[in-house]
Amino acid sequence: MHVALSLVLIAFGVLAQDSLRETRVSSPEIVRTEYDMAEVVKPPALPADALAGWKLFVQRCAICHDPLGQPSYPESFAPILTRETVSNLGEDRVRNVIMVGSARMPGWQYTLSPEQVGEVIAYLNTVTPE
Ligand code: HEC
Repeated sequence: MHVALSLVLIAFGVLAQDSLRETRVSSPEIVRTEYDMAEVVKPPALPADALAGWKLFVQRCAICHDPLGQPSYPESFAPILTRETVSNLGEDRVRNVIMVGSARMPGWQYTLSPEQVGEVIAYLNTVTPE
């Protein structure tokens, strides 16, 4: 009884090893993008509130909203935000989206103060669609 069970287990082990060997995949292709880091981190010339908003945007929003971070731009994960976003939606709705978030976006009402959200919107108002 035990011998039979051992044989079954050994056979299973051999089969499992074989199937592992077959499913080994080729190594993925690594694509490197060279960024000019000095250029990427250089602060834009902006008024104080928009500059503060730019810093917040880089820290909190750019990972989803900035085309630089998007390998598949323009099919990016989140819409590109410009001053047209603010003028199309209106400042109140933009503020509300930022505070509350959505199914795919975190809300910032417990992270950013109302003044900081204002700074982010001041920054967005300096971004042209180009
Ligand atoms: C985790 C990714 C993520 C982060 C981080 C994020 N967002 Fe979003 N945001 C989205 C997505 C996705 C949408 C599109 C709406 C949707 O699908 O829910 C969106 C929509 C918006 C919109 C509405 C745009 C429109 O045209 O309707 C605004 C405004 C916005 N985000 C601002 C911000 C700001 C400001 C921050 C940083 C404080 C931020 N988001 C951080 C993912 C993100």
